[in-house]
Amino acid sequence: MRKKITIIGAGNVGATAAHWAASRGLGDVLLLDVVEGIPQGKALDLLQGGPVDGFSNIVMGSNDYKDSADSDVVIITAGLARKPGMSRDDLLAKNVSIVKSCAEQAAKHSPDCVMIVVTNPIDAMVYTAFKVSGFPRERVIGMAGVLDSARYRTFLAMELGIAPRDVNAMVMGIHGDNMLPLVRLANASGIPVTDLISAERLAEIVKRTQQGGIEIVNHLKTGSAFYTPGLSAVEMAEAVLLDSKRLLPCAAYLEGEFGFSGCFLGVPVVLGSGGVERIVEFELTDEEKEAMLVSESAVRGQMAATGL
Ligand code: NAI
Ligand code: 2OP
Repeated sequence: MRKKITIIGAGNVGATAAHWAASRGLGDVLLLDVVEGIPQGKALDLLQGGPVDGFSNIVMGSNDYKDSADSDVVIITAGLARKPGMSRDDLLAKNVSIVKSCAEQAAKHSPDCVMIVVTNPIDAMVYTAFKVSGFPRERVIGMAGVLDSARYRTFLAMELGIAPRDVNAMVMGIHGDNMLPLVRLANASGIPVTDLISAERLAEIVKRTQQGGIEIVNHLKTGSAFYTPGLSAVEMAEAVLLDSKRLLPCAAYLEGEFGFSGCFLGVPVVLGSGGVERIVEFELTDEEKEAMLVSESAVRGQMAATGL
């Protein structure tokens, strides 16, 4: 039977995710939003790309959660996006009530789904979805690490003048200014980037990665990034739907891994049909541990602000 993906929030990230999901032929796609007409119009427009792109999935738009019933994956993108001068934390108060209602409805209509949360501030919003859905931690995952790592890999590839796919690098921790782009483990086809790029330039690349979201907000002025965020959420959904055991950095609920418990943080995760199938732990340096502690403290502050 064909898989079903519901994307809640038919704005920039949601519609872009629908586009990637349909184009990759991952399954039938339902685009859901509170605004009448927007999900229907965007879905119909996207559906009509089938004959050209070659996909034959159904793409539907709706304002009714009943249409989302029995989804295999639900991607939550509903909520406000950043504008210049706003931090991700500024979105918290508004987005927590939106994500609460989306996660409750999604859990009710698709009790067996894997939820991928994108709405910001992501580490608090994925916690919100986890709390209100009542799902086990394996089935509620936050998207940020795939995006932040893609930015990091892009900047490293630009520096080296090589194809981005030949750069392997990962960002851990919070989705915010204190995220941790791992330098010592980043490599170009196996060659450590520390052997290829000066420490000074690497520090600049790390900084640019940490500021990757605001760099785009400052260009756009009316909203935030959506092409790679939408794609990154679909990359995670694909790993679940195809049970492909991808090892991707995701915001996962930690129960002792890396020494943290009771909060979501970006860590390397094996994604398969069960969602988070394994969190891959490895030894961090003292400096990296310190950065993760700073992330944890910021995430706990956000969690407290959710009131959950
Ligand atoms: P957008 O403003 O283009 O779209 C948001 C959509 O959510 C709108 O269509 C709106 O009508 C809808 N919506 C609002 N309340 C809703 C509800 N209760 N139920 C269903 N739909 C509802 O915003 P955009 O650019 O798509 O961003 C969405 C969210 O994703 C933002 O919070 C943004 O900060 C976040 N984001 C997170 C990233 C990450 O790495 N985790 C990356 C990029 C964006
Ligand atoms: C980003 O990093 C806004 O969180 C979003 O682009």
